[in-house]
This record gives sequence, structure tokens and C-alpha cells, in this order.
Amino acid sequence: MKKIIFVANWKMDPVSRKEAVSLLGETKRVARTARTTTVIVCPPFVHIPACTRLRSDAVILGAQDLSLFADGAHTGEVSSAMLKEFGVRYVIVGHSERRRLGETDAIVAQKTKLALRNGLRPIMCVGEYERGVHGEHLATLEHQIKSSLNGISRKTVKGLIVAYEPLWAIGKSFKYAMRPSEIHEAVIFIRKILVKLFGRGVGSSIPILYGGSVEKENIANIVFQGGADGVLVGHASRNTAQIHGMLRAITEYGSS
Ligand code: 13P
Repeated sequence: MKKIIFVANWKMDPVSRKEAVSLLGETKRVARTARTTTVIVCPPFVHIPACTRLRSDAVILGAQDLSLFADGAHTGEVSSAMLKEFGVRYVIVGHSERRRLGETDAIVAQKTKLALRNGLRPIMCVGEYERGVHGEHLATLEHQIKSSLNGISRKTVKGLIVAYEPLWAIGKSFKYAMRPSEIHEAVIFIRKILVKLFGRGVGSSIPILYGGSVEKENIANIVFQGGADGVLVGHASRNTAQIHGMLRAITEYGSS
């Protein structure tokens, strides 16, 4: 059975190293019992060294960004090689909160390419700012996906994960998340684009995640009715009751 991918994006939290270690420890404890799920935790850069000691088969480390440069004089940047040095295996690329700061599709494509070349699995984020009543957002989404993957070929795409995060659905309660039927349509739409870009075999095998107000109350429906290969979770991934609830919901629904 294919494992469900669960990515915890801690964003700019928690403040202290002690809290980060404790949150990762709790996530790991729950993740050990969630056998049908691959759990990836993406802490802020500064907490990665403390978290690297705790990583295990149950919890894999990811990062929230990487530099678009491989090396050299780039103040404030963190390279893929540095991340790998600390046991990081996944990296979020092009999150909407970074795109809002000016990260363009061209930069996202460059970072995605670099991650793939250096053996990190990029979780490349896409998503519309708002939904058009007549489906206008689909053209925007298609353009964003194609230009954020510009220069990546069928040969070099192995390892890519796409995360669909509509901006209007981020940071709210589960009641405001996208409905599973809408997620299902979006997943099919994105799948078609990936198949067009990389061919049926490769395009069908790229995992597509959903992100935006995922909580314990809606996670199972998102995955099992929405047809997403997993989830990218923000606020609920820093709440221990939610982590328990979310991983339990996937395990129970998946075995029912
Ligand atoms: P929330 O789960 O808080 O809506 O955040 C989603 C997100 O941006 C994850 O990357």
C-alpha cells in the first residue's frame, strides 16, 4: 500500500530550541504508531541542528527553503549541501509565504532544479490567490506549475513532490479548508499537467499534496475522498493534540 505523506511545516515557530526538541519528540512518538504514513518535519533553519539528533525512521527532516545558489558569496543564504550535512532529505520550495516576499516562478524553478540535482526531494508549492467563479484560476495555476518547473525534464524530475496550497484556504479552521470534492478536481487537474510535462509513467508517479487549514477533523476526507497523496500542514502540526488526532485519523480511515 502506498504511504500517505504528512509534511509538518512549522513556519517561524517555535521560538526556543527546547520547545522545538519537545515538539519533534512528541511528533516522533505519534509517528511511530502511524505505519501507513511518511512523516516529514520542516523546522526553521536554526532548529535543524537540534532536531537532527532526534530524527529517525519514523520522522524525516525537511527544511522550509534553500538557496538558489549552490555555493559562493551569498549573505544569509543556506545551501542544499549544508542542509544535507544536517540530515535534511526534503525541502519546501516556493511556499506562498515566500512568493509573497518576491520569490518568482523562475527562482522557484531554479531552487527546485538545484534540490533535485543535489539529492533533496523538493516539495514545490503552487496555488491560486483567489478562485474565479468561472474557473479562471485554473489557467493561473497551470501557468504557475509550468513556469515553476521550467527546465526540469523527465530525466531530472525524479524525487519531485508538488503541494497544492490555495492561498485563500491557508491559516484557518478546518471549516474553511477546501472541500474534498474540490480538492479531487484540483488533484486531477494538476495530474494532467504533470502527465503532459513528463509523460504518463513519470507524471502519474509524482505525489500531489494538499495544504491549507488541514486539521484532525478534515484530514482523512482530504486524503481519502480528495485523492491527495498527502498533506502539507501548518498551524496544526505544532499542536500535539492535533498531531495525535491527524495521524490517528489517517491510520484508522486507511484501515477501515
Ligand atoms: P495552515 O495549515 O496553517 O493552513 O498552513 C498551511 C501551510 O501554509 C502549510 O505550508
